[in-house]
Amino acid sequence: MSVPASKKKAAKKAAKKQPKKAVKNASIRQRSIVVREDEVPYRIKTSATKESLRFIDLFCGIGGFRIAFEKAGGKCVFSSDWDKFSQQTYEANFGERPHGDIHTVAVADIPKHDILCGGFPCQPFSIAGVSKKNSLGRLHGFDDVKQGNLFFSIADIIDYHQPAAFVLENVKNLKSHDKGRTFDVIYRTLTKALGYTVYTKVIDAKSVVPQHRERIFIVGFREWRDFEFPEFPKEGPLLGSILESRPDPKYTLTDHLWRYLQNYAAKHKAAGNGFGFGLVSKQDTTRTLSARYHKDGSEILIAQTGKNPRRLTPRECARLMGYPDDFKVIVSDTQAYRQFGNSVVVPVVERIAEAVITALRRPSEQKVDLVLRDEKKPREIRTPQARLHTSIQYPPKKRSRIK
Ligand SMILES: C[S@@+](CC[C@H](N)C(=O)[O-])C[C@H]1O[C@@H](n2cnc3c(N)ncnc32)[C@H](O)[C@@H]1O
Repeated sequence: MSVPASKKKAAKKAAKKQPKKAVKNASIRQRSIVVREDEVPYRIKTSATKESLRFIDLFCGIGGFRIAFEKAGGKCVFSSDWDKFSQQTYEANFGERPHGDIHTVAVADIPKHDILCGGFPCQPFSIAGVSKKNSLGRLHGFDDVKQGNLFFSIADIIDYHQPAAFVLENVKNLKSHDKGRTFDVIYRTLTKALGYTVYTKVIDAKSVVPQHRERIFIVGFREWRDFEFPEFPKEGPLLGSILESRPDPKYTLTDHLWRYLQNYAAKHKAAGNGFGFGLVSKQDTTRTLSARYHKDGSEILIAQTGKNPRRLTPRECARLMGYPDDFKVIVSDTQAYRQFGNSVVVPVVERIAEAVITALRRPSEQKVDLVLRDEKKPREIRTPQARLHTSIQYPPKKRSRIK
């Protein structure tokens, strides 16, 4: 029996209404909570205009990436972090509460964007995180079921939305974790499976803040772009430039804690280990501020004359991470230390954001054209990088055996 023409027409119309992009990987994409796509309140001294490049702020913490990309002229269209205290700080500063667990957000519900930013959790890969997990008999890297697979959530979002660029940040140890295999999977996923041109660089923040903090930045472009990581000055500021003139006496160590830290350091020195506290003065650069600074503050202690050393105040931690002084710190000291210890160094990301946005705004053939004309060679047409979808699977089926 033939179907009447009117019914065929109706069926065609209904089919047209279906979303154009098929959701390819249902197991990863079956995320239940629907995200509001309407515009969220948007505070800000921002240079954002209608033509601004749109970015998303994944694993946003307290918004280090956001400050940097807004300063470079970007407009944030989505943020996510599941930590309720980080959400409070983010909301106090940006007028918007980030969405929660990224696993519960449907990829298709994330607004379309030009740049994806994400400082994905580093504990599964950091030296401290790995040795802690080893000592507790827990899995690390991609095998850390709760946090190790978050890179693949990012890959999933890139795959679906195909942003023009992404900027990812992690600990330096990401490169050497699991004898380089972890990084290899990440790199191959971004380049071979997703087809992006990828640049990586380990940057030490000590050239812009008085803190030795090495982080790897991974920048990718969907189409070829004339991009170089920015240069950083050789000499950076010293600790004296960020210290408060009259810190509250509560940050001075008690006799008990100071004695404990000295004994602990002496014990490890005798055993030939380098562990111990990091005592610094105004002329120094500090060690890396960690999320566990709230415990005893031992990695950065400020020497004081005639008194026990003291910890940094939360405001000093904010400055050590390059946050402006009008950044609101509204949580407890413990939470503030955790938040700044987890953050990116804002002025480092500012420079990268500027370089990425400049590269995106510059016509991609520009440099090649000039070179070719100088050399009087026939003009070559540059096409966007071919997509090299290969057999790489992500997430790898057997994450413990990444080859
Ligand atoms: C290294 S911190 C990033 C900090 C951020 N770049 C900043 O400048 O403050 C990683 C963040 O990922 C968040 N996170 C971890 N697992 C998450 C998940 N499943 N969904 C959303 N956020 C998550 C943590 O709460 C943490 O704030």
